[in-house]
Amino acid sequence: MIGVPRVIAPQTRLRYFTLKAPSALRLPERSKPSNNPFNAQGERSATLRGSVQNALKDVMRGYPQGVTVVTTKDHGVLKGITVSSFISVSLQPPLILVSIAKDSGFHEAFRNSTEFAVNFLAEDQKSVSDRFAGRLKLADRFQGLDISFDSTSAPIIGGVKAFVECKTRGSYEEGDHSLIIGEVVNAIRLSEKSPLVYQNQQYTTTFPSDYPAPPSDIVY
Ligand SMILES: Cc1cc2nc3c(=O)[nH]c(=O)nc-3n(C[C@H](O)[C@H](O)[C@H](O)COP(=O)(O)O)c2cc1C
Repeated sequence: MIGVPRVIAPQTRLRYFTLKAPSALRLPERSKPSNNPFNAQGERSATLRGSVQNALKDVMRGYPQGVTVVTTKDHGVLKGITVSSFISVSLQPPLILVSIAKDSGFHEAFRNSTEFAVNFLAEDQKSVSDRFAGRLKLADRFQGLDISFDSTSAPIIGGVKAFVECKTRGSYEEGDHSLIIGEVVNAIRLSEKSPLVYQNQQYTTTFPSDYPAPPSDIVY
């Protein structure tokens, strides 16, 4: 009977979609977790706020970020802090941004700095990251490290993959962090070493993908 449409008489059509289970058999509606940090009164509730912060932390933990050490010279004293919140903001003019916690002992030094450098750590520099994250409890975080200076007064750490040097352009307080904007005056790639990456509270690095590279005329 190819080509002949099958006709079902209206009275024989199944009406399964209108059937309802007796209320006693119905499963209770599942309450969806809310991402709205405001309660019915429009106030931020402590519980909801906590849940959004924890959810954000959870998401961000799984998001891989390169590891840098941001350095400056503050009243003649070298300062440095491990920072993964680095982004390139603009090319014309060349601007970058780092985000530093207000409760860090180094916050004021970077906020008031006139110059700073961003050192991009290589895969073999986990101990350098730990050192500048305060995990080694050193009075002087630069103690015993090989450092040099290039175009600014901010120290460049030996063995890094690359560095950029900046004139501090401004800082903006947002929540519990300050965004420090730097105008790049020098950017040098020193080696082809793999970068140090932080993800799920562990150090890792990048690995080549087996996905083919896009044609060279496509710029991201
Ligand atoms: C991988 C990694 C990334 C970090 N990224 C940042 C960051 O982006 N901003 C920040 O303020 N602190 C960051 N920290 C924490 C600071 O390095 C650390 O709190 C600081 O060095 C501690 O010194 P203080 O308590 O004396 O300020 C990071 C730590 C690690 C291990």
